[in-house]
Amino acid sequence: MTISDDGPGFAPEIMDRIGEPYVRSSKRRRLNGGGETTGLGLGFFIAKTLLERSGATVDFENRAYPDRGAVIKIRWGRSDFERPLGFAAT
Ligand SMILES: Nc1ncnc2c1ncn2[C@@H]1O[C@H](COP(=O)(O)OP(=O)(O)OP(=O)(O)O)[C@@H](O)[C@H]1O
Ligand SMILES: [Mg+2]
Repeated sequence: MTISDDGPGFAPEIMDRIGEPYVRSSKRRRLNGGGETTGLGLGFFIAKTLLERSGATVDFENRAYPDRGAVIKIRWGRSDFERPLGFAAT
């Protein structure tokens, strides 16, 4: 599953840490006027943690120039959907 947008993309300073708790870019704080309405930097951490518990891998990228925007790729292996019958009861 791929989710993308045509916004500014992920800030380079956070590319390696997206998915860890409390990661926010200073750029977004500036764009937000330094107000207190910015998030905690927990959204991706929570989403990634839950997705990984379902067997998924989650990758965060930026679209390649001249395109721009954030790209999030979520992949499950086929085996994650082929658990034996009775799984839910165990
Ligand atoms: N679509 C996007 N395009 C560019 N940067 C993004 C995008 N979505 C998130 N980010 C960056 O990733 C950071 C982490 O996002 P995340 O959702 O984990 O936290 P948050 O939105 O700042 O706070 P919270 O989700 O806890 O309210 C954001 O602060 C922002 O810098
Ligand atoms: Mg968020």
